[in-house]
Amino acid sequence: MSEYAELKVDGNVYKLPIIEGTEQERGFDISKLREESGLITVDTGYKNTGSTQSSITFLDGEKGILRYRGYPIEQLADKSTFLEVAFLLIYGELPNSQELYAFKARVKKHQLVHEDMKQIMLGFPSKAHPMGVLSSLATALTAFYPESLDPNRSADKVDLTITRLLAKIPTLVAWSYTNARGIRANYPDNSLEYVSNFLKMMFNLPTEDYDVDPIVADAMDKIFILHADHEQNCSTSTVRIVGSSHANLYASVAAGINALWGPLHGGANQKVIEMLQNIITNGGDTKKFIDKAKDPNDPFRLMGFGHRVYKNFDPRAEILKKQADKILERLGVNEPEFEVAKQLEEAALKDEYFIERKLYPNVDFYSGIIMKAIGIPIEMFPVMFSIGRLPGWIAQWKEMRTHNEPIGRPRQIYVGHTQRPYESISNRS
Ligand code: ACO
Repeated sequence: MSEYAELKVDGNVYKLPIIEGTEQERGFDISKLREESGLITVDTGYKNTGSTQSSITFLDGEKGILRYRGYPIEQLADKSTFLEVAFLLIYGELPNSQELYAFKARVKKHQLVHEDMKQIMLGFPSKAHPMGVLSSLATALTAFYPESLDPNRSADKVDLTITRLLAKIPTLVAWSYTNARGIRANYPDNSLEYVSNFLKMMFNLPTEDYDVDPIVADAMDKIFILHADHEQNCSTSTVRIVGSSHANLYASVAAGINALWGPLHGGANQKVIEMLQNIITNGGDTKKFIDKAKDPNDPFRLMGFGHRVYKNFDPRAEILKKQADKILERLGVNEPEFEVAKQLEEAALKDEYFIERKLYPNVDFYSGIIMKAIGIPIEMFPVMFSIGRLPGWIAQWKEMRTHNEPIGRPRQIYVGHTQRPYESISNRS
């Protein structure tokens, strides 16, 4: 043990080995503490708990740094495509041109989805939330590929599941969208790039061809890149913990989709636009809503503001803010939500309450605005986030299984009743 921290409890001293990462982040290892001392650590919400040692994504919330496999997010968003970034996250290196060509071809080959999936889709009422539909369909893939249940499959076979997920999730998303609208499903078009193909499957009509605007495809590609991974966030930790029981990759990703659904996580982008619409319906008084957000007795929060780890600025939000300006100008959309968003942003950035608490617009604030402008229905926003986060979930699942991590199983401090006598029902008051 080269360097360690000392913990003194009841006159005993426990040595906790210090672990240092490649970016000089330090933590101490408490994994043997309970064995040695009977003590556990308590950290509700895992605000200061390192659950793993990972080499996928580095982020520094204070400095506003986000890097995938060492590459700054700004450069990846500027120079790479989403599939290139997916390759980087999952396989560890940026692909050379042959590798990228082969990877794209592999994904294209698997974009078709079994026709029976449509039967499952038809069972959902048209008002079903698309996140619930997507997580169900992701789990349903297990039924079509039962060999994925074997936790000891060869790396090649795991790779096939990875490819299938990347290839089929956009098709399933587009099909569930057309199905909910009562429109015939569009099949994948292998002549198109990943994102353009997805947009075409979403919006093409039997009566009207959808021509993919490269600016729109580029904006969507960037949104996917910026969402592709974010180290041990709520949904990723969920994927890792579900996978740690040796649950298959489809089921683990489905659990991630469910975790992402919550309004405090991936559901926030939908809530941003709903909040803006609510402000408009209530007369457009942004000050009133800022005051509500500041009132400790009011549960209302400004959606799209604040972040658990970014306490300075969210680098993804900086990139998307520029992209939002570009897309609004290009598409010439001038909807009242965008005006209210600007007012809210300006007012909150000047307000002491938000400054003191380091609450800045996060990625969801601008991604919601962009997606609204390009015609993605609001309830599908978290679904878009899921497509973006897919490579991250896969990479993190793969890393967890490759490292053969133990099953995730936190402890607790019990604060309920101590033992008490059982009362028969006739004696209960
Ligand atoms: N509006 C108003 N006040 C806020 C907001 C907000 N959006 N966010 C935090 N605060 C306040 C809290 O009330 C608290 O104030 P207090 O110190 O006076 O009690 C303080 O700021 C700290 O808030 P916490 O909830 O402790 O911060 P935490 O790090 O746990 O939460 C979170 C982060 C969940 C993102 C929070 O800022 C929030 O609810 N934001 C709105 C939802 C949202 O946009 N989520 C998307 C996150 S990005 C993503 O998942 C991709």
